[in-house]
Amino acid sequence: SKSYTVTLLPGDGIGPEVISVARNALHLIASIEGIEFKFKEMPMGGAALDLTGVPLPEETLSAAKDSDAVLLGAIGGYKWDNNEKHLKPETGLLQLREGLKVFANLRPATVLPQLVDASTLKREVAEGVDLMVVRELTGGIYFGKPRGFGTNENGQEIGFNTEVYATYEIDRIARVAFETARKRRGKLCSVDKANVLEASMLWRKRVMEIAAEYPDVELSHMYVDNAAMQLVRNPKQFDTIVTNNIFGDILSDEASMITGSIGMLPSASLGESGPGLFEPIHGSAPDIAGQDKANPLATLLSAAMLLKYGLGEEKAAQRIEAAVLNTLDRGYRTGDIYSAGQKLVGCKEMGEEVLKSIDSKVTAI
Ligand code: NAD
Ligand code: IPM
Ligand code: MN
Repeated sequence: SKSYTVTLLPGDGIGPEVISVARNALHLIASIEGIEFKFKEMPMGGAALDLTGVPLPEETLSAAKDSDAVLLGAIGGYKWDNNEKHLKPETGLLQLREGLKVFANLRPATVLPQLVDASTLKREVAEGVDLMVVRELTGGIYFGKPRGFGTNENGQEIGFNTEVYATYEIDRIARVAFETARKRRGKLCSVDKANVLEASMLWRKRVMEIAAEYPDVELSHMYVDNAAMQLVRNPKQFDTIVTNNIFGDILSDEASMITGSIGMLPSASLGESGPGLFEPIHGSAPDIAGQDKANPLATLLSAAMLLKYGLGEEKAAQRIEAAVLNTLDRGYRTGDIYSAGQKLVGCKEMGEEVLKSIDSKVTAI
């Protein structure tokens, strides 16, 4: 039977709670599908800082590189918020993305029929939304140099960062986005700030250049401020969105709320080769950590993306997706997606109900 090594990085806050649910689901799926998972749990983020003094230990990065796919919970927390830059949990996450060279971050935002009422938008605005944010993940202002702290001519302390994109970085993310749009509804919207930023001017020029390879995809451009507004005005106008690292970070959190909760949104981060990194788009949610309140569905759906994009196990991925829908159909809701008349459950119980759905769907699929 097929055997895969999956590195699990629970991380901090609600990370371990949601990863535990996903691990159980993957374990059950494996027995049903006749595949084998070798799980390797490694420390990452604040947990790694406390254990080893660094947010991404070498052993964790090499285990990740040596595996078939990586599933991350979340990192970060109050305890480490005032750490120096190189000792922040978030720095470990950036090092992991850079180390795995996963430049393409796919963040789908789909409004499930069961959750239309959980959206803060009106039913007619939210219903049927199905969009994909393709976020550039290993460049832009997150990584650009020069960066740092210093002093200006008035003796004032300054902090500075550089938004920088090279042609090859834009071209490769644009190709991923055009390919993605081609498999969806054939519409791509490139979001930038080309009216102000040089990095965005080059971005727009290159995206237009690459568009020639994809005559079947309808390309449009939008400034990021307008895009933020259009996402809540009429999100159904979007199919695939391609954008830089920081705009993608912000717009995907915004898009998540259309679907009802940030606790619903998964992601896949892919490179040219090597293992992909799969993680919910939310953070460690320190405000609810340790209280069994986290919504594990974003992580379960990230595990489904791992199966589909990371391992090519489409059927196993569909089992998770179907089980999530079935659990919602049966009325189970964590607090973030709760609406009147539904069954309010915690993270663990939600996970158990999804396992039951996976089990009951064995013959149904
Ligand atoms: P966050 O996403 O952790 O939380 C924002 C809000 O959403 C909170 O009210 C939280 O309770 C809620 N929320 C998030 N995930 C949820 C879930 N699964 N179920 C129910 N509610 C959920 O963002 P934040 O508060 O800005 O950041 C907290 C920490 O997480 C920071 O240290 C930040 O750097 C880190 N962070 C990490 C990642 C990551 O690991 N990929 C992503 C974003 C933020
Ligand atoms: C995310 C997070 C990260 C990001 C942080 C924690 C580094 O917000 O995965 O969306 O900004 O990319
Ligand atoms: Mn984010």
